[in-house]
Amino acid sequence: MGPPGSGKGTQAQTLVRDHGWVQLSTGDLFRDHIGRGTELGKKVKGYLDRGEYVPDAITVDMVRQRLREIPAGTRIIFDGFPRTVAQADALDALLGEFGRRVDGVVFFEVPRAEILARLNKRAREQGRSDDTPEVIGTRFDVYEKQTRPVVDHYQAKGIVRPVDGVGTVDDIAKRLRAAAER
Ligand code: AP5
Ligand code: MG
Repeated sequence: MGPPGSGKGTQAQTLVRDHGWVQLSTGDLFRDHIGRGTELGKKVKGYLDRGEYVPDAITVDMVRQRLREIPAGTRIIFDGFPRTVAQADALDALLGEFGRRVDGVVFFEVPRAEILARLNKRAREQGRSDDTPEVIGTRFDVYEKQTRPVVDHYQAKGIVRPVDGVGTVDDIAKRLRAAAER
């Protein structure tokens, strides 16, 4: 977990590359559907463009579909999911269906100024549709309102492992590995 632009995707990919975990990124899955012009993609495009969350039912359904494709015994790193308390509850139920459970939650701590610098750089280089100043503002607001309580929810369970998310990608990957092994 972590705010928009805190490095969730970048770091999830290091677990895929170095440890063979499977990454399940709801943001990437939505962008893939939008890119392919699927029915789901058409339904969710507006939410992503505005920086608002896609409704829980649609999101959880998509996660269930994706979970079916992942072999039992493979470790999964969820990236950008769950993002609401309802999704966290749905995830527990869903994992139960697959004989899985949440082992731990990594939370990337990155100051707002550093995140803005990263997203502005990506806006210049790649032009992701939600990396405009206005939409970035909405993404932060939505995160504080809807996702901060999910962090608190997992904190109450004592399974949150904070990771300093500032530094080189490799340095943070080492911290992530240490946190994942803890
Ligand atoms: P999502 O795709 O999850 O976007 P996000 O969390 O807002 O932002 P990012 O993916 O940009 O951040 P990240 O933490 O992955 O960082 P990254 O590694 O990319 O969601 C997009 C939208 O989809 C949502 O707004 C919503 O509409 C919808 N959605 C997704 N999940 C949903 C859900 N569960 N429920 C409902 N709706 C949902 O890094 C950011 C940048 O920084 C990159 O350019 C990267 O190269 C760079 N960078 C990374 N690490 C470093 C470093 N150490 N130093 C310097 N630069 C770095
Ligand atoms: Mg991401």
